[in-house]
Amino acid sequence: MSADNNIKCASCHIPSLAYTDGKQVAVGVGGRTGSRNTPSLSALDSMDTNASFFWDGRRRQLEEAVLDPMTNPVEMGLRDRGELLQRVQGNVEYRERFEHIFHRQNIEGEDIGIVLADYVRSLSAEPSAYDRYVTQGDRMALDTRAVLGLTLFAGKAGCSQCHLLSGKPAALTDEKFHRTGVGLDDIAPSLSMLTQEVVKSSLKGSAIGDRLATHPDEAQLGRFNVTREPADIGLFRTPSLRGVANTAPYMHDGSVPTLEDAIDREIYYRSLQAGEPLNLSAEERANLRAFLETL
Ligand code: HEC
Ligand code: HEC
Repeated sequence: MSADNNIKCASCHIPSLAYTDGKQVAVGVGGRTGSRNTPSLSALDSMDTNASFFWDGRRRQLEEAVLDPMTNPVEMGLRDRGELLQRVQGNVEYRERFEHIFHRQNIEGEDIGIVLADYVRSLSAEPSAYDRYVTQGDRMALDTRAVLGLTLFAGKAGCSQCHLLSGKPAALTDEKFHRTGVGLDDIAPSLSMLTQEVVKSSLKGSAIGDRLATHPDEAQLGRFNVTREPADIGLFRTPSLRGVANTAPYMHDGSVPTLEDAIDREIYYRSLQAGEPLNLSAEERANLRAFLETL
């Protein structure tokens, strides 16, 4: 479905990597790079109704979010929705299948969003060790280290304030936006110019994503690109930590290479924000990591 016929959804959302790509930022048509790290798709089935999509939450409907990559200039690079529709209609097998599902001859743009969204929702991960531990009462699923890590995660380290343990399976996100310690420093000198630019262009929906993919500096403004509220500068959506051991590198811009680094950053930055410096020993950090590996 891509402009060069080489890129598909699974080029970036690779099943064996919890539907991420192992790259710092996504690489799409013609080897072009975007500005953001590819998020996992394996937690979308358990998202609640407040959920939004993409690192800045610019989409509220999964049916819309799944179509955006098709026309993103550095992802699949189709000209517009019209070209997408033409391609689907031009394929006999697709045409027959859509007819069978929607009981009519004309395929519409929304139909493609509906079937893709349904498919993406079905990509739920197998129950993790932590799921087995909580919901199936399998006490052996977590070793001693991981249990100690869970105690830290839900207690002293405060991780579960945002990476919620509630929900079945555990959501591991609060579906909210938070300031992050990542990325904003680099754009500080040009902040006022960048924010003015965003306000001036006042983009919506897929147009935001198309622009940010080719403007890494503006992409660092996060949620501000969607709301244009000064308080939202540098806020990003809390990612679910489902399968997190398989989704390196980390954070919205993929700038943090390993899980250890991500844990260290989060301990440092989140405790700084909370105004209570948190000193975790090497042992405690290792426990936290052992727990994250069970997710
Ligand atoms: C070139 C790599 C690439 C391709 C191809 C790609 N994606 Fe993505 N996908 C990304 C990146 C990067 C993001 C995050 C973008 C952002 O937040 O600004 C993303 C985000 C998403 C999200 C939002 C997930 C969330 O939790 O917010 C969904 C859903 C999604 N992609 C589905 C798809 C589907 C369906 C296709 C095929 C039609 C596809 N993607 C093709 C890289 C890609
Ligand atoms: C105030 C809310 C909040 C708290 C508390 C919090 N996080 Fe996060 N976490 C986030 C947000 C937001 C991001 C995304 C930041 C970004 O991309 O710039 C994130 C990202 C992460 C990531 C990277 C995930 C990925 O897919 O890239 C890991 C790992 C992580 N957090 C672990 C932790 C741990 C461990 C703790 C406890 C020490 C913790 N977090 C506490 C909000 C929080």
